[in-house]
Amino acid sequence: MVQLSEPFKWTLLLCTCSLSLAGPVQVPNLTLPPTAAGNQTAVKNIFNQSYAAYSASFIDDRNGWGATIVDAMGTMILMGFDDLFIKSLEWVTNVDFTESKTAANVDLFETTIRYVGGMLSAYELTGKKYPILVQQSQTLVDKMAFAWSSPNQTIPYGMINSRTTLQSINVSRLSLYTGNQTYTNLSMKNSIHILLFPGPFPGAPSKRSAPPLKANTWGGGTDSYLEYLIKYARISNTDDNLFADTWHAAVDSSIKELLKTSTVGNHAYIADWNDGTIALEGSHLACFLAGNWILGGKLLNNDTIVNIGLEIADSCWNTYASTETGIGPETFQFIDNESFYGKHGFWITGSDYIQRPEVLESNFYAWRATGDTNFQKYLVASETNGYAGLNDVNNIAAGLQDVTESFLDVFNTEGQVFKAPPAKAVYGSGNIAVPAGTFTSKTVTGPVPAISPGPL
Ligand SMILES: *[C@@H]1O[C@H](CO)[C@@H](O)[C@H](O)[C@H]1NC(C)=O
Ligand SMILES: *[C@@H]1O[C@H](CO)[C@@H](O)[C@H](O)[C@H]1NC(C)=O
Ligand SMILES: *[C@@H]1O[C@H](CO)[C@@H](O)[C@H](O)[C@H]1NC(C)=O
Ligand SMILES: *[C@@H]1O[C@H](CO)[C@@H](O)[C@H](O)[C@H]1NC(C)=O
Ligand SMILES: *[C@@H]1O[C@H](CO)[C@@H](O)[C@H](O)[C@H]1NC(C)=O
Ligand SMILES: *[C@@H]1O[C@H](CO)[C@@H](O)[C@H](O)[C@H]1NC(C)=O
Ligand SMILES: *[C@@H]1O[C@H](CO)[C@@H](O)[C@H](O)[C@H]1NC(C)=O
Ligand SMILES: *[C@@H]1O[C@H](CO)[C@@H](O)[C@H](O)[C@H]1NC(C)=O
Ligand SMILES: *[C@@H]1O[C@H](CO)[C@@H](O)[C@H](O)[C@H]1NC(C)=O
Repeated sequence: MVQLSEPFKWTLLLCTCSLSLAGPVQVPNLTLPPTAAGNQTAVKNIFNQSYAAYSASFIDDRNGWGATIVDAMGTMILMGFDDLFIKSLEWVTNVDFTESKTAANVDLFETTIRYVGGMLSAYELTGKKYPILVQQSQTLVDKMAFAWSSPNQTIPYGMINSRTTLQSINVSRLSLYTGNQTYTNLSMKNSIHILLFPGPFPGAPSKRSAPPLKANTWGGGTDSYLEYLIKYARISNTDDNLFADTWHAAVDSSIKELLKTSTVGNHAYIADWNDGTIALEGSHLACFLAGNWILGGKLLNNDTIVNIGLEIADSCWNTYASTETGIGPETFQFIDNESFYGKHGFWITGSDYIQRPEVLESNFYAWRATGDTNFQKYLVASETNGYAGLNDVNNIAAGLQDVTESFLDVFNTEGQVFKAPPAKAVYGSGNIAVPAGTFTSKTVTGPVPAISPGPL
């Protein structure tokens, strides 16, 4: 790992907490209900059917390299679809990753998580049996490395925003398997730049990343950045506390300033923050935070964080339980709109459903971490020759979307973190420290800017 030294001094301590040993994420006595086997078969059938529908008719728009084929390999291995996996492997072997087959630019973030992450995950899940997966990842990353074209450049060109920190996970694995530290150095250079760039409050990334963020939120735009601060600490096994501490700082600020409950139903959520304005809104994407806080809270051995994560998992499930289809909307607000809000404690501002996994993923974490089968929530989608999105989750008559997202085929939760003991005894320094100047700005004085309730 990159050593952080001189410039990265911790100067501000938000709290002095004692060091506690990391806990296992999963309860020791987790048992499966008798219906589990039936559900498992049903889920495998959903995958098999939707992948068959994809194979019969598809859009290959991520540079024409077959993103779904590559991204779904991990799922095929986990579900035991060996024949499908071998076909994907043949596909991967024959892709020329040095040339885009479409007119589109190469999106650094999507390419890294879908192609590089897909190939390296399959490499790991098959016990490192197929080196071609590393070779092809290397070809692709070597090609992308030109995004860091100038030696002093910290943020690569491309579709760049704070999510780029996520690349550190996949890219550092590539360094591990190729023995070439250059890949980690390149991605760390930009991760650390974002980590240290002045943000609006402790742990939050700056809105001045390119393209500028609309708001600071646990939803789209910065979700993956925040998610991977703690996952990078967990997966990299780094002794550098920068990542876990910055994650804890972001969680701590969010609890202090942005944790709210709806006036109807007392549903907990983390609001968005936009230049001094608190927006009382939530999203399907932001619901990942419940699982992420459960995971991170366990790693920091901090029950406060785990318990808030569990509450938010419940709130997010409420957005499913409240609709006509039993599926939750894309975006919603926690303010009174006199009708829907009065019954459900939120109202729908974006009614579509594009097969996002975050709410179910958080329930999965909640179940693994507590063993409470109330969190074992399954959806049985109606079959549509594949599985479709919805135009309006609260109006069945509004119909289906004639498209299946590639992420329907991806089992989007890193299974190994549940069973494996934490890689380290302690995550983070125990002090929620933020680098000097992280949240200084012209209008802000003092450690945490006063955040005033906005107009909503
Ligand atoms: C399982 O373990 C948890 C503690 O991790 C405990 O609270 C719970 O009572 C146990 N449940 C059973 C059925 O043993
Ligand atoms: C899944 O499990 C639930 C109970 O946890 C059961 O009610 C349901 O029928 C199962 N579904 C399938 C498809 O087996
Ligand atoms: C998967 O679907 C194919 C048809 O596309 C079928 O032949 C095969 O039996 C299915 N496999 C399983 C395990 O259900
Ligand atoms: C490591 O990868 C970089 C970037 O592709 C390359 O320029 C360099 O030659 C590689 N180093 C070794 C020792 O192979
Ligand atoms: C890179 O940074 C170094 C040290 O700050 C500086 O001397 C050099 O001119 C810079 N190079 C370019 C290409 O900007
Ligand atoms: C790659 O990144 C993804 C995040 O999209 C993560 O889930 C996966 O575990 C990573 N895989 C490897 C091999 O680093
Ligand atoms: C990676 O960065 C470290 C720390 O800055 C440096 O010592 C090392 O030489 C770099 N390695 C490569 C291959 O660039
Ligand atoms: C757990 O995290 C919360 C939120 O950041 C913090 O207030 C509390 O002091 C932490 N508890 C311990 C024991 O570190
Ligand atoms: C309140 O929410 C419902 C359900 O989302 C919506 O149909 C209605 O238009 C909203 N009412 C107002 C006044 O915005």
